[in-house]
Amino acid sequence: MSVGLWTHWVAMHAVPKVFMSLQGRTGNPLGSLISSHGRGIDPYPLMEEIRRRGPLIRTPFVWATADHAVSREILRDKRFGVTPPNGMEMPRPLRILLDRTDPKVANPVEPPAMVIVDPPDHTRYRQLVAQSFTPRAIDKLDTRVAEVTAELIDRLAGTPQPDLIADFASALPVAMIAEILGLPAETHAQLLDWGHHGSPLLDIGIPWRTYRRAIAGLRGLDGFLTEHFDRVRAGGPDDNPFSRMAADHTLTDHELAANAALLIGAGFETTVNLIGNGIVLLLRNPDQLARLRENPDLWPGAVDEILRIHSPVQMTARTARCDVEVAGRRLPAGSMVAVLLGGANHDPRVFPEPARFDITRPNAREHLAFASGIHVCLGAALARIEGATALRALFDAYPDVRLTEDPRPRGLVNLHGYLKLPALLGTRRTEPAGLVC
Ligand code: HEM
Repeated sequence: MSVGLWTHWVAMHAVPKVFMSLQGRTGNPLGSLISSHGRGIDPYPLMEEIRRRGPLIRTPFVWATADHAVSREILRDKRFGVTPPNGMEMPRPLRILLDRTDPKVANPVEPPAMVIVDPPDHTRYRQLVAQSFTPRAIDKLDTRVAEVTAELIDRLAGTPQPDLIADFASALPVAMIAEILGLPAETHAQLLDWGHHGSPLLDIGIPWRTYRRAIAGLRGLDGFLTEHFDRVRAGGPDDNPFSRMAADHTLTDHELAANAALLIGAGFETTVNLIGNGIVLLLRNPDQLARLRENPDLWPGAVDEILRIHSPVQMTARTARCDVEVAGRRLPAGSMVAVLLGGANHDPRVFPEPARFDITRPNAREHLAFASGIHVCLGAALARIEGATALRALFDAYPDVRLTEDPRPRGLVNLHGYLKLPALLGTRRTEPAGLVC
């Protein structure tokens, strides 16, 4: 065990966990929310309490909002930047400890991953990575999503009691992200393993064992990506934008690995939850599923309603770059704001009866599940296609599918989804169910 790594965990997770738990016990709903890792609690009552206290509330070290208008405003306001871990407001000794013990491994949620850097670097990385998401690239991916989904549906037929997370919901996004990065199918299982172990890093206050496994996973991924890009360079550029970037050294190795790791993490640790949460919501709301069966044109709206009501990414953060006034509050430069996307998506002023799952909700697409502003999800179009295609194909092929156990949440604070969805498929419908959107 590395003492440096353990010390980093203490500074980054153990101390903040104690602090946030104490805050929670003294009545701060953000403290209760942030310190709930591993407990699988329902976050919405806490987010409602935050919204009830005001559109933008001050808590020790961090402001918080669960208000839709204020969240959107902050995400789009150029006076706010991202909040890298070493930029968080914290006591000075903790900062020194953190800086000295940084494990220095390509981390998808630390610079230079684009999601956690400000312009001008952000603009440069985003423009380069966006080459994998042009309308032409998305068209090609759309066809591949339909093909991979059809293969998975066939494979399910040979698995009478599948786990719909492992055998279906996670398999599609990982296959798509591997295609985007030009990685062969043999890597899927390893990528899933690294992603699964790495996703708790988005929470604060994770246990030491979880942290150690996550960092080991990141090291594995970092080494694997570095070797992969070296191989690509040796073999000459191919048709893949990431391979081209590796070949012509557009980005440094560290920049390339961090942004590829971000795509891997952001690409499947979120979409798996869109599909998994969608399965649970539709099985719990058979009237809504029946409407989709009658009118498949409703699928795109249903996907946005799933993203709204059970957002795979529950929160993000921004930091004021200068003194600003928002929602009538003065925030000094350096103030950090927890933007509670899940809470904003349940704001009753924008989404009346927010806890009601309604696939025809006229403004469901106004959700902030993909955030907003310059960091708005780069993979949103792909995620929507994957969600609609996978869910529609599953319910068309297996109309009697049902879960055999109560779904168990993963217990993460930020990434919301289920650990397993053991199911019985029932008889497969063999007649073609029509085109998949
Ligand atoms: C349902 C699925 C998904 C959800 C809910 C989701 C959510 C988000 C959110 C909330 C952000 C903004 C984070 C912030 O501002 O702090 C984001 C950024 C990002 N997402 Fe997604 N995402 C999903 C799928 C995907 C997919 C499939 C990909 C790629 C294949 C992807 C790639 C990215 C990238 C690269 C960014 C960073 C963009 C930037 O900083 O400019 N995401 N995503």
